[in-house]
Amino acid sequence: MVAINLIDYPRWPSLARESILNVPADIRNVKVNIDGRVIDYSGEVDSVVITGMGGSGVVGDIVSDLCWFWDCKVPIIVSKNMRLPRRLSKPLVIAISYSGNTAETIMSANEALSRGYPIIGVTTGGKLSTILSNKGVPVVLVPKASAPRYGLPSLLYPTLIILERFGIASVANELESGISGMERALKAIDEAERLAGELLNAIPIIWVGESRRGVGIRFKNDLNENAKYFAIVSIIPEGAHNDIAAVTTKQVGLRHIAIMGPNDYEGRYLETLLDVVSSFGAKPLVVKLEGSTPLESEMYGVTFLGITTLVLAHLLNVEPISTLPIDRLKEELDKRKLFPV
Ligand code: PA5
Repeated sequence: MVAINLIDYPRWPSLARESILNVPADIRNVKVNIDGRVIDYSGEVDSVVITGMGGSGVVGDIVSDLCWFWDCKVPIIVSKNMRLPRRLSKPLVIAISYSGNTAETIMSANEALSRGYPIIGVTTGGKLSTILSNKGVPVVLVPKASAPRYGLPSLLYPTLIILERFGIASVANELESGISGMERALKAIDEAERLAGELLNAIPIIWVGESRRGVGIRFKNDLNENAKYFAIVSIIPEGAHNDIAAVTTKQVGLRHIAIMGPNDYEGRYLETLLDVVSSFGAKPLVVKLEGSTPLESEMYGVTFLGITTLVLAHLLNVEPISTLPIDRLKEELDKRKLFPV
């Protein structure tokens, strides 16, 4: 066993527990007055838009996954853009930015305000916190981590509580199981080391069903950002109608890796796909998400696969925390005044 720096992962259970303390208990009583128009947080909502980018935006994907299992009362719209989707009727907008300085998320939050939607910020501070707080909009301030993606539980858990407070999902009984999922993954370091070793010298192609899209996207993002490793995520069934055709690719080494949860309705579909991929000579890896609730298996997956990418970074001798190209892009966008924020 090699000594891997797990960065903030060992703190994930406590980050999850701490972060939910900051969700205002009376959030449904909030009324915000924007230029004479009152935004009333006690009203009915018919969708939830979760807007954010990268390590913050993935919270939307994870909530969307969970709603394939939970009886979520309204559609969850995941928005990773500088604009909100058009023609929303009565949405609740949750704007998530770890730093609070991501221009796309700030623009979306401003748009929500100008369209008169109830909005809640989830952030460690930054401009998002200032803009929203100055207008009396609720902001959940969450604990800091070494970089946005390492603070995932601090961003996800308050979001789940917000959904509970708005009567959209009943999450309270599952929160502890999600923490068990993180703890279980923290004990699976040997397995993470084995998996990371299998991914060396190849481009991982991650196969995942729609109901685990968040785990697949998060794994790809962690490969990109922690290990600076290129990877592809293919969501089935759609990916079975296009990406699969590239299984015959000879120019670059592909490493097929499938993610499967215990009760995923796409399970048999994914098994069939793997049989077909194998019939072309590939030797796919399978990661089974462990856990007795949807949140537990989801959190097991994102934690285990995140740790795997830290091991890969270690094997590649890559520094995992910094993401210079992302920083440079943000600076350039700022310099070129692409966003009026
Ligand atoms: O994980 C990361 O560092 C990035 O993907 C960031 O989350 C992304 O750039 C958005 O920044 P923030 O989460 O601060 O809004």
